[in-house]
Amino acid sequence: MINNDTRFLGLMGNPLEHSFSCFMHNRAYELEKMNYIYINMETEKKNIGDILNGIKHLKFDGFNVTIPYKIDIMDHLDEIDPLAEKIGSVNTVKIEDGRFIGYNTDGEGFVISLAEECNFDCRGKKVLILGSGGASRAVAMTIADRNPEKIFITNRTLQKAVDLSDEINYKFSEICFPVDGVNLDAVIDDCDLLINTTSVGMYPNVDECPLEPELLHEGLTVCDIIYNPEKTMLIQEAEKLGCKTMNGIGMLVNQGAKAFEIWTGKKAPLEHMRESLKILID
Ligand code: ATR
Repeated sequence: MINNDTRFLGLMGNPLEHSFSCFMHNRAYELEKMNYIYINMETEKKNIGDILNGIKHLKFDGFNVTIPYKIDIMDHLDEIDPLAEKIGSVNTVKIEDGRFIGYNTDGEGFVISLAEECNFDCRGKKVLILGSGGASRAVAMTIADRNPEKIFITNRTLQKAVDLSDEINYKFSEICFPVDGVNLDAVIDDCDLLINTTSVGMYPNVDECPLEPELLHEGLTVCDIIYNPEKTMLIQEAEKLGCKTMNGIGMLVNQGAKAFEIWTGKKAPLEHMRESLKILID
């Protein structure tokens, strides 16, 4: 029940009509009988400062940030967690004594689900990442933080893969290498983990695959951060070879669960959150 003790959380971004976060979080608070409400805060960029000044004086414990403000929000924060600083974007803000503290839980959400669903530990492993956008940055930087042997990055616009590799090498050590299409063949043969962070294969283009299925091999763990459809063409092709696979639902749930824990200090009800997403996706 909403009453005078209700604490506020929310999501800042634009547009927000397709986001699952509001439903997923409110379902979790309802089922856990926690007196929180999570609201959508769809806004123009010019209003971000005014909104922060306002919510500082209300019963807000924090909020999520999504496209297109994950970078813009950083100028308005009092403190930024070191991993979020390295990733270069913030998706979760905690409000503590009127101070705004920024975190990024996207990459952690990914590696947690990788451990849970595929029993995969990035330490000492060779990883190939397809794509160099915002999601790729979070995933690649978080994996870099987990001591892999090597990370390879390829992208339709190769220069973006080169730039992201340079940045990872600067922030960590010499572990990241850009790959062009010609060399993909040899690189993937040697890799333990393949991650698609591009939008290729996402609904409605469900017949597209981000790389030639012939390049996949037995023993490769294959992840797609797309969750609609639940099984992309890439995942279907990998399953035919008996590869361990994972779609994007776990990342979505776990990034939300991490945010829940940052705000409330309590363990998130993962299964309830996962079930609520299934209601929306099915
Ligand atoms: P997100 O925040 O979800 O990562 P993004 O920053 O827009 O979104 O990144 C989208 C990624 O998908 C990019 O790597 C993009 O490649 P470019 O950098 O060349 O744009 C990739 N991508 C999108 N459509 C693609 C397509 N049709 N073929 C190959 N890659 C594509």
